[in-house]
Amino acid sequence: MRKKIIAGNWKMNKTPSEAAVLAKEIAEVAKDAVCDVVICPTAVCLDGAIKAIADGNVAVGAQNVHFEEKGAFTGELAGNMLTEIGVKYVIIGHSERRQYFGETDETVNKRTIAAINAGLTPIVCVGETLTEREQGIMEETVRRQTKIAYLGIDGDKAAETVIAYEPVWAIGTGKTATADQAQEVCAIIRDTICGLYGSDVAEKIRIQYGGSMNDANAAELLSKPDIDGGLIGGASLVAEKFAAIINAAK
Ligand code: PGA
Repeated sequence: MRKKIIAGNWKMNKTPSEAAVLAKEIAEVAKDAVCDVVICPTAVCLDGAIKAIADGNVAVGAQNVHFEEKGAFTGELAGNMLTEIGVKYVIIGHSERRQYFGETDETVNKRTIAAINAGLTPIVCVGETLTEREQGIMEETVRRQTKIAYLGIDGDKAAETVIAYEPVWAIGTGKTATADQAQEVCAIIRDTICGLYGSDVAEKIRIQYGGSMNDANAAELLSKPDIDGGLIGGASLVAEKFAAIINAAK
């Protein structure tokens, strides 16, 4: 049985003081959670959020990590900077980074390797655009993204990572993939991992769904056999809504 994992992607929302308040509210509603709970504030809010919820069972994740350990990479963050302050997870290859910041399958692979080397658990995002779905290349797209993301990564390391299937057309649009659509693609991703590493790793790796997941649709999505959690944007910014999703992950 894979333990479910509910992660909040706060994107570019909340100032440090607001983030500390929300982190505390979430730690409170998550104190009896039976799933793993992660919040991913912006970089400048990470330290404050970690300190605000030091005693709780909510882990903190970053929204990106650079692939080099240090050097002349203005504006970037290295893995050991994150781990030193207590960051445990990192979102990699979110579609907004692919769309607006030139992230490619190759940089996703490099960042995933860097995250693992630094001791962070990557949440590797894959997902097709609406055009790719309409062109009939959804499956090829997510298989390609998954295969390239895991190039050069050993199976025992891969098994500990998390993949988030996020159809780009469902992110922030209010359009959720149906539970059957989400299950179909999460199964394709698991099958891709099985092809790379075999069934033991495929059975262990956790695959989340993300894209307009909310308190109303979470239970059905999370009931599907290959959906092991959620990566939640909008609904993770309101503690009660996020709590309902955490509760749906029972
Ligand atoms: P959303 O975002 O829940 O607001 O659609 C999900 C994500 O981008 O991770």
